[in-house]
Amino acid sequence: MKQFCTLLLFALVLFACQKNDFHVVRESDAGFQDRLAMETYLSLGSVSYASAIPAYLKVVGMQDPVFLDEKVVLGRVLFYDKNLSRDRTISCASCHKQTLAFSDNVAFSVGIDGQLSHRNAMPLANVTSFAAHYSSISGQGPTLLWDHRAADVATQAPLAFTNSREMDLTMAEVISRVKEQPYYAYLWKQAYGNFEVTEAALLESLSEFVGAIRSYDSKFDRALIVSSGQLSVTDTVVTHLYYQDTTITTITTSLPFFNQKEFTGLRLFVDNCSKCHSPIRPFQEVFMACNGLETKYVDKGLSAITGQISDEGVFKSPPLRNIALTAPYMHDGRFKTLAEVVEFYNSQVKNHPNLHPSLRDEAGGVKRMHLSTDQKEALIAFLHTLSDEKMTKDARFSNPFK
Ligand code: HEC
Ligand code: HEC
Repeated sequence: MKQFCTLLLFALVLFACQKNDFHVVRESDAGFQDRLAMETYLSLGSVSYASAIPAYLKVVGMQDPVFLDEKVVLGRVLFYDKNLSRDRTISCASCHKQTLAFSDNVAFSVGIDGQLSHRNAMPLANVTSFAAHYSSISGQGPTLLWDHRAADVATQAPLAFTNSREMDLTMAEVISRVKEQPYYAYLWKQAYGNFEVTEAALLESLSEFVGAIRSYDSKFDRALIVSSGQLSVTDTVVTHLYYQDTTITTITTSLPFFNQKEFTGLRLFVDNCSKCHSPIRPFQEVFMACNGLETKYVDKGLSAITGQISDEGVFKSPPLRNIALTAPYMHDGRFKTLAEVVEFYNSQVKNHPNLHPSLRDEAGGVKRMHLSTDQKEALIAFLHTLSDEKMTKDARFSNPFK
């Protein structure tokens, strides 16, 4: 009897310990069986996603996003779940790999039956907070995908699920695949209080996870965090760094953690690139443009949707955060290295009728940058300061499947 009691006590302690592994904020009504089923398949680790955005972003009015951890966790499992594709071989993460800043290292990613995606997979970081913020300040609508055809993740995700090259299911099939997996009952009840799987809830939790993938720990962020810490909130140093028309020399001659080469690269970037690519989205002025890759585009970009000739070759001007991790580059992955990209802007931009004015000279021709070898290297060195290796290793964004 005594032995039995000890055993019982041991089992209870074990149970209590296991329960603590999955810290839940709200009271759970999910049963023990549900949790056990979940734990058979998944190893979730820390499930707290709270994090504040750096002060230098608050200076310009960005808000801390609010996440409900249980929905983020559910979204993470959905993101990594290969069962949500027709032949159960592809998940969102197949093309959005954490080690590559949630992009892919091939021009076109492999989807169902070895078919290739039409365009280069885009990296994911700060997707929803920046989309919401800059669309609210610039009045621009849809902001996701290379042609801006999705307003948010809830609009974009069904395009991936139902794309015959990517995951190739109907949304009804996605829902029944979720219902048949033993690990979802627990997660769904944690997030929504029941296991009535709806498309709206599924898209909400996926959006929560994609939104929770945030990146604020590059060398560049650290430099701005330190410098903005010495400034009052009304100071405009950050703004000045990012507006092309404002010189930065009067404001700062160096940046913490930056060596001279990186700082030179930053200044070249401010002069030539930041109008279309602020690594901090709120300061960007141009969100879509034709950057002159072609005189005649095979992939027409925005004009494939609008039918307007003036939209040919117009693509999303992506944030360059983590850009050193996300080769190959451009909507079709044509450039393998940042050196090729810099050489393109330096000397190879083509005179497409829609070429953005920022890439033209005063006479209306194509601007040539005439960069020296040192300057090209400096620009590349600056682009490397945008990498956030912490995000690419953060266990909370990793594959939860055992
Ligand atoms: C087969 C590869 C593949 C799969 C699977 C895939 N994606 Fe993508 N993703 C892409 C490509 C390619 C693009 C750019 C597509 C375009 O512009 O037409 C993209 C773009 C995106 C974007 C837009 C990012 C931005 O900044 O504009 C988001 C968000 C995204 N995917 C999330 C997801 C989610 C969530 C899933 C799972 C439901 C998913 N993706 C599945 C390849 C994939
Ligand atoms: C007029 C706006 C504009 C300017 C100025 C500009 N770009 Fe771009 N950039 C774009 C657009 C639009 C794209 C996407 C083009 C495409 O894929 O068709 C792009 C793509 C890129 C990419 C690839 C991004 C990815 O995720 O694949 C890099 C890197 C890049 N630009 C760097 C630079 C640098 C460095 C400069 C300055 C020397 C610069 N850009 C100047 C608009 C601009």
